[in-house]
Amino acid sequence: MTGPAQRALGTVRFRRLDTGAAVADGVSTGDDTFLGNGVTVYPGVVLGDGCVVLDGAVLGRIPISNGTTTRPIESRFGRLTIGAGTIIGANAVLYTNSAIGPSVLIGDLASIREGCEIGERAVLGRGVMALYNCKVGAFSRVQDQAHLVGDMTIEEHVFIGMGVVTTNDKDVYLSRFGIETSSPRHGPTIRKLAVVAAGATVMAGIEVGEGALVGAGAVVTRDVPPWTIVTGVPARPARQIPDEWREAVLAWARAAERGVDPSEAPPPLPAALARDR
Ligand SMILES: CC(C)(COP(=O)(O)OP(=O)(O)OC[C@H]1O[C@@H](n2cnc3c(N)ncnc32)[C@H](O)[C@@H]1OP(=O)(O)O)[C@@H](O)C(=O)NCCC(=O)NCCS
Repeated sequence: MTGPAQRALGTVRFRRLDTGAAVADGVSTGDDTFLGNGVTVYPGVVLGDGCVVLDGAVLGRIPISNGTTTRPIESRFGRLTIGAGTIIGANAVLYTNSAIGPSVLIGDLASIREGCEIGERAVLGRGVMALYNCKVGAFSRVQDQAHLVGDMTIEEHVFIGMGVVTTNDKDVYLSRFGIETSSPRHGPTIRKLAVVAAGATVMAGIEVGEGALVGAGAVVTRDVPPWTIVTGVPARPARQIPDEWREAVLAWARAAERGVDPSEAPPPLPAALARDR
């Protein structure tokens, strides 16, 4: 029996580039864009100028269900836009119906599902998984192997440490069988300038406030107030972000937005960054 995925895939015609990349007919690849060996570009992809797509990457993949997934899946080519100057690592897989901004860096083996929006100059590290309808704000950095769950939001200038896990279904015990519960079924929201340190787990529907810091390995079960450090399992407030840190972080973010590389031309920093222990 031919399903929607086979029907959509069966109609695609590719042209082959010298590098061995396969580009679906009608796809616009932009000027001065490099498509590496074995790259596959499916219909509906719009690549900006000056992108680099390394070997084996797949752009515009359709989602396909085996019939046991709980979320409705549409196996149809939509549109995947990739902004100018964006770099996509080897063997990364980007699904259809997402929008990747300009000058974004996507690491090798990363995967971005449908419905995602990745803001300009964001970094998604090696092996990062961004599930459906994930938003990652401009200048945010998501470190290697982090798992961004479906329907979650990361605002601008956020840092997500390596191996962070996010969840969107507290009642998975029942809902995996389609049994309805009243608890939140969406991912967390990480407000701008926050940090979620390595290996932390953030539960469904949680809000990590602006400029907050979630310590390494924490399990976040309650909202984190802005500019607050939380640690532990379960995560509890440890202390506030010092005012000097807050001012410095805000100044660096403003410089990045103006296009100044803060590492080359740092704005004036407060004299004392030493913490008061
Ligand atoms: C939360 C964090 C900022 C605390 O740093 P700090 O203020 O310098 O803390 P200290 O190392 O001085 O430790 C103070 C106390 O907190 C405890 N502590 C520190 N980090 C902790 C954590 N993540 N979870 C639980 N307790 C922690 C320490 O054991 C110590 O307790 P003690 O006094 O009973 O021994 C830091 O541990 C952290 O998570 N940083 C982020 C690291 C990271 O993931 N980077 C990603 C890129 S590599």
